[in-house]
Amino acid sequence: AQNAKESLYIVSQYATTFFVKQLWETNEGKSIGLSYFKERGFREDILKKFEVGYSPDVWDALTQSATNNGHKLEFLEQTGLSIKNDNGKIYDRFRGRVMFPIHNFTGRVIGFGGRTLKTDKNVPKYVNSPESEIYHKSNVLYGLFHAKKAIRELDNCYLAEGYADVLSVHQAGIENVVSSSGTSLTTEQIRLIGRFTQNVTILFDGDAAGIKASLRGLDMILEEGLNVKIVSFPDGHDPDSYMHHVGAGAFKIHLEQNRKDFILYKANVLLKDAGDDPIKRAGIIRDIVESIAKIPDPIKASVFVRECSNLLEIEERILLSELNKMRSAKL
Ligand code: UTP
Ligand code: MN
Ligand code: MN
Ligand code: MN
Ligand code: MN
Repeated sequence: AQNAKESLYIVSQYATTFFVKQLWETNEGKSIGLSYFKERGFREDILKKFEVGYSPDVWDALTQSATNNGHKLEFLEQTGLSIKNDNGKIYDRFRGRVMFPIHNFTGRVIGFGGRTLKTDKNVPKYVNSPESEIYHKSNVLYGLFHAKKAIRELDNCYLAEGYADVLSVHQAGIENVVSSSGTSLTTEQIRLIGRFTQNVTILFDGDAAGIKASLRGLDMILEEGLNVKIVSFPDGHDPDSYMHHVGAGAFKIHLEQNRKDFILYKANVLLKDAGDDPIKRAGIIRDIVESIAKIPDPIKASVFVRECSNLLEIEERILLSELNKMRSAKL
């Protein structure tokens, strides 16, 4: 099985090099792929660092090139780079897309995300590699290989939603950033971060609906004992678009000045949502205490009880008794 895996790593590396060459050295790659990245404001050194590429808009460019160079179709299929249709015809999974290779944390390529250049709503924006012997998406954080040193040194990990966010935050000079690549965060991914730091700062896409939906998922990070902060962006912006909109300097300042503790942030979002409705406000208290109850360290938890008591204008002892009820229900 070790050899089988090795073959999948090798063919994935071949594909990475192939897509990079297409981007920088072919007319189609340069005029379509590279100019797309440039229009979005990406610098060449960042594109090279992350080994982004371009897949030609034909049926089987990669499959042909790889098999001509002695790579077995079997391994191309096992990584999902090549697909056999019902008639036995082989074609490339990625065609006419800009390519983001996904590295594991030792730096080997294990899969790809490919972004369409079309604005057609019927075309999926990203196509991703399927699960394989070497790619288990719930165990992977995009960008970790390039971020891990900075995460350790700065003792914080920024967590964004997408591939482009990782590149743009890097380009702003902030290297301790990874992304969950659109899937909801898993325990494995949180533990992976936990090997390098106990501090996570979430960089959400700035749409209100997305934020509310994600709040619950973040309790999982508290449960793993990590500290969670949040930076939000003006409506309609994600970290990538905001960085290019305001520039690297202002972007950094934004991160520093808008970092809020997750629990207080959540309390504020829910409070705004509830307005004066007393029943909704009571619901919030339960919601917030539920988050606090997830924090394994009782001293940390008591600090949040005090701060939330101020924010929600509720006596500390009421929050504490709710907290104790929840803790003993959990035991
Ligand atoms: P977004 O829709 O926020 O895309 O999805 P994005 O990262 O901002 O992409 P750009 O800036 O338009 O290029 C966030 C992440 O969700 C995953 C990708 O990992 C994406 O980066 N995703 C999104 C998919 O896997 N498939 C999709 O069709 C859309
Ligand atoms: Mn999004
Ligand atoms: Mn989006
Ligand atoms: Mn986005
Ligand atoms: Mn984006």
